[in-house]
Amino acid sequence: MTAPNPFDQQKAIPGVKHIVAISSGKGGVGKSTVAANLALALSRKHKVGLLDADIYGPSIPRMMGCLNQKPGITPEQRLLPVERHGIKIMSLGFLVEEGSAVVWRGPMLFKAMDQFLRDVNWGELDYLLVDLPPGTGDVQLSLAQKVPVAGAVVVSTPQNISLIDVKKAIDMFQRVNIRILGLVENMAYYIHPASREKMPLFPKGELPQYLKEKSISKLGELPFHPQVGMASEAGIPLVQSHPDSDEAQEFIRIADELDKILM
Ligand SMILES: Nc1ncnc2c1ncn2[C@@H]1O[C@H](COP(=O)(O)OP(=O)(O)OP(=O)(O)O)[C@@H](O)[C@H]1O
Ligand SMILES: [Mg+2]
Repeated sequence: MTAPNPFDQQKAIPGVKHIVAISSGKGGVGKSTVAANLALALSRKHKVGLLDADIYGPSIPRMMGCLNQKPGITPEQRLLPVERHGIKIMSLGFLVEEGSAVVWRGPMLFKAMDQFLRDVNWGELDYLLVDLPPGTGDVQLSLAQKVPVAGAVVVSTPQNISLIDVKKAIDMFQRVNIRILGLVENMAYYIHPASREKMPLFPKGELPQYLKEKSISKLGELPFHPQVGMASEAGIPLVQSHPDSDEAQEFIRIADELDKILM
């Protein structure tokens, strides 16, 4: 007898059109920042949900300014996502106190992902963005096995140290048959305050060659700009707080690009 294929459990979430993973092999490259701002950019035309699947370090509640809110419960005992800036949000950060560590093994992570995907009343959504933790572990695998994922947006910074981990993430998605929608290069440059020139923040590595080799398109480039970080820190991501800034406009352009690919 052959072993059951774990991908056979894949089931769509009723009412949810496109599940998009925001991922990177590497920590701290701006996945959550990109997820939050893309969610806001997409919500200008669509109904959007944002699932913070970073079980170990949920940062979406703080970035979206809803840290002290709690999900409601329906009479059928389903969780109601928190609504903020027009986005439906679910995160383990609503359920455990900030600063307390979650120490879970694989089976518990699988169960938590199951509940986030199935026991949350997402309602009708055009997009459900899933902010993944760094790495290529149980959370990523459980998402791939449980639901049909429309594709993954991979976030990277330009240098080779980041690329090593990005390659692993892309390899993982390809093994589990998740389409790579494209790459967002974050902290690609900064604008020199005096000369207004684009300056590299990190050494440029082999990212362009790698993307070409793999036929992966670059969805966009974001500069390092303190305003991006400050907006997240204040709980109002830049697309909401400064929609006319160049950086917010780039997020909006990337969202339009995704829309073209998926809609
Ligand atoms: N383009 C940018 N300009 C300025 N600051 C940025 C930019 N992108 C991200 N940051 C800041 O860098 C820090 C890390 O970003 P973020 O939390 O989004 O990364 P992450 O990849 O989700 O991290 P983790 O792996 O821990 O989940 C945050 O303080 C964020 O505000
Ligand atoms: Mg994050």
